[in-house]
Amino acid sequence: MNGLDRIRLHSLHDKVMPAAQAVQLIKDGAVVGMSGFGGAGEAKSVPLALADYAKDHPLKITLATGASLGNQIDGRLNEAHALARRYPYQADPGLRQSINAGEVMYIDQHLSEMADNIRHHNLPQINVAVIAATAITEDGLIIPTGSSGNSANFVEMADFVIVEIDNTINPILEGIHDIYVPKARPNRGPIPIIQASDRIGSIGISVDLEKIAAIVLNDLPDTSFAMDEPDTETLAIAQHLIQFFEAEVAAGRLPENLGPLQSGVGSIANAVFSGFEHSNFHDLEMYSEVLQDCTFQLIDSGKMKFASGSSMTLSQSCAAHVMNNFDQYKDKIMLRPQELSNNPEIIRRLGIIAINTALEFDIYGNVNSTHVAGTKMMNGIGGSGDFTRHAHIAIFVTKSVAKAGAISSVVPMVSHTDHTDHDVDILVTEQGLADLRGLAPRERALKVIEHCAHPSYREDLMSYFERACEKGGQTPHLLHEALSWHAQFQETGRMKAV
Ligand code: COA
Repeated sequence: MNGLDRIRLHSLHDKVMPAAQAVQLIKDGAVVGMSGFGGAGEAKSVPLALADYAKDHPLKITLATGASLGNQIDGRLNEAHALARRYPYQADPGLRQSINAGEVMYIDQHLSEMADNIRHHNLPQINVAVIAATAITEDGLIIPTGSSGNSANFVEMADFVIVEIDNTINPILEGIHDIYVPKARPNRGPIPIIQASDRIGSIGISVDLEKIAAIVLNDLPDTSFAMDEPDTETLAIAQHLIQFFEAEVAAGRLPENLGPLQSGVGSIANAVFSGFEHSNFHDLEMYSEVLQDCTFQLIDSGKMKFASGSSMTLSQSCAAHVMNNFDQYKDKIMLRPQELSNNPEIIRRLGIIAINTALEFDIYGNVNSTHVAGTKMMNGIGGSGDFTRHAHIAIFVTKSVAKAGAISSVVPMVSHTDHTDHDVDILVTEQGLADLRGLAPRERALKVIEHCAHPSYREDLMSYFERACEKGGQTPHLLHEALSWHAQFQETGRMKAV
């Protein structure tokens, strides 16, 4: 049978069964912890069989993962009405609709915190862990696939485990994971990562073999994933950032390689990181959560020397290139559990520069990453809060307008706050960069309006700010007007009356 050779502990062979049989172990009301982070490393056969099974045998589960799932898994489980609760992050259009309709209860959580919350019983007990594996070793270690996520925690905490051996994953990945499970409090010591490249754990997940209830062999390939090409605006954002970094190095505030970098998810973040390609920076390092195409392009061009993350979310062509040339990368990348990749203790110690994408920010530097017009969930906070609050320099990027100019990404007051002005240092749009460090709110507003706002909204923002200042306050606002731009957008589809 294809894949049996990947179960190198032969005593486990009698646990192999079809996915359709394994899903019958998952009962209505179960809390299921599935591997998967940023569209990489998820089990495929088991969740898709569960979605099919739920169509004829109605059931609802609580689904916990590392982060978003690829391969339309969230979408298919949602269509089958199999999701009662979902955490900590998702990015599926169909599930987003069910969340915003109030049909699925979504708990949008900092990615670093979930494993500890489960360990300390602040979140419900995991009943079943469903974990994708490249292989099971002779010693019974589960070797993850394209992400580490929360898998080690799920395996540790679950009542029982279903392992899905993914035959479509190149076995060459064995060795790039660094699995370390912090002890429960109060007996926890410091996590001994001093450099981005430090290895502190093992290459796979330890499991009590008695807990393995089923092993499923998967032959379903990953669905393709495309990354938008950089455009004029994202290239301009990258340019502003590179100039800022050059000035920081020249002023002696940053080392020549900048120190470890974190990059958020999405097309803008990918384009911004690609900007390093044409810069003079070298020996770059990442201590991030998702390694995207740009990471491997920077390794190829000799700009990046090491990248630590929790997952590799790659376009199809980049994934093929990486797998075909894996020898070039295997000592330059590491995939860690997200409670390590996003760990505040490590982020603060390493002095990370965090670059994440905002939906909108306000004139004082508060950032909304998650809620359109303050109400509708887009994806979730992901790791942006983990990194922003603890970073050496916390940066947010976005285009100055969205929806062909109907929306200004710079607003008088954010309609939802994910990152407060206390945590946000630098804001960048294609219009320019506002360095907010050491500035009081009234000084920040002038910088944000002048450097980041789109010209078509700048005057209105300045008028708002000046009239608010007449009323006084440390952070001046006109409360009846502060969210009027969003209200106008909800009523007319545009923030500005035309
Ligand atoms: N109001 C309403 N919609 C907005 C908006 C605003 N102020 N700004 C952007 N949008 C829309 C865009 O129009 C686009 O819509 P579309 O999909 O219909 O085209 C969508 O939001 C995505 O924006 P885009 O400009 O393509 O950026 P992106 O793909 O880089 O995603 C976020 C941006 C904010 C949604 C994404 O980065 C995210 O989910 N971040 C939160 C989690 C996070 O930061 N994780 C990383 C931590 S390591």
